[in-house]
Order: sequence, then structure tokens, then C-alpha cells
Amino acid sequence: MNHCATPAAHRDAQHLCASAALAERGRALVFDVLQYGQPVRAFALRFDGKVVAYINRCLHVPIEMDWQPGVFLDADRRYIVCATHGATYEPIGGRCVGGPCGRGRLTPLAVAEIGAQVYWYPSADIRPVPREVPAAPGDNP
Ligand code: FES
Repeated sequence: MNHCATPAAHRDAQHLCASAALAERGRALVFDVLQYGQPVRAFALRFDGKVVAYINRCLHVPIEMDWQPGVFLDADRRYIVCATHGATYEPIGGRCVGGPCGRGRLTPLAVAEIGAQVYWYPSADIRPVPREVPAAPGDNP
């Protein structure tokens, strides 16, 4: 089991994927969440064996950072790099270490691996996107 954060209660866990789907320093899984009630993208990737997850928003300009969908790491696969102007972040902790992102850090999501599955945990600010409830037969659109 690999805990990147200690979840308060597993009952709030949101399933992301099988552990095997996140290769070491490989392509990230991009997924939708609500931050302060607004839809945004988040991503999860594996680095040095740990799964980490962040809101997909650069600190320089609040836009998504991936070069291609799910590709966040530089050519050496050492840092998360924003595709727009090259802001550079540590994969573990999300701290800005170069480029125009100042002294901040990416917004993390709590994640855990349990039973070879990866989960993320909502917070007060970051919530799951509600699942659409299929219309019942006979409901009018
Ligand atoms: S928008 Fe990310 S470095 Fe400028």
C-alpha cells in the first residue's frame, strides 16, 4: 500500500484506476473534478513509486499544463513542466522550481493505493463531478 496522504475515511474514496495503469514516470491519468464548484481537470501520475495528483492548472497563468493529453513530464522525466512557458514543478510535492511560477506549488489531491487500485479523496474545496442520473422511463426531457 502506498499512501501519498492519509485519508480521513475510505468511504469518500473516488476510484481512479488500477495501479498498473500508472507506469513509473509515464503518462498521467487526467480526470474531471469540481474546485470551488467549478469544473477543472486534475491529473495523477506515478513518480518514484508514489502516485501523486494535482489540479491541472499552472501557477503562472491558470491554464492546463500538459504537452499532450496526460503528458506532463519533461524529456528527462524529472519534472512536471508546463507546456506553455516552461514553468517547472517537482513531481513530489508540486513545488515550483523554475520558470515563471514563483514560489508556489501545484494544488494537490489526496490519493492512496489500496488493493492495487488508485483512489483520490475529496476535500472541502475539491469535489467529485456528480454522476448523471439516467432519466427514468417515461420522464419528459
Ligand atoms: S502558463 Fe504555465 S508557464 Fe506560463
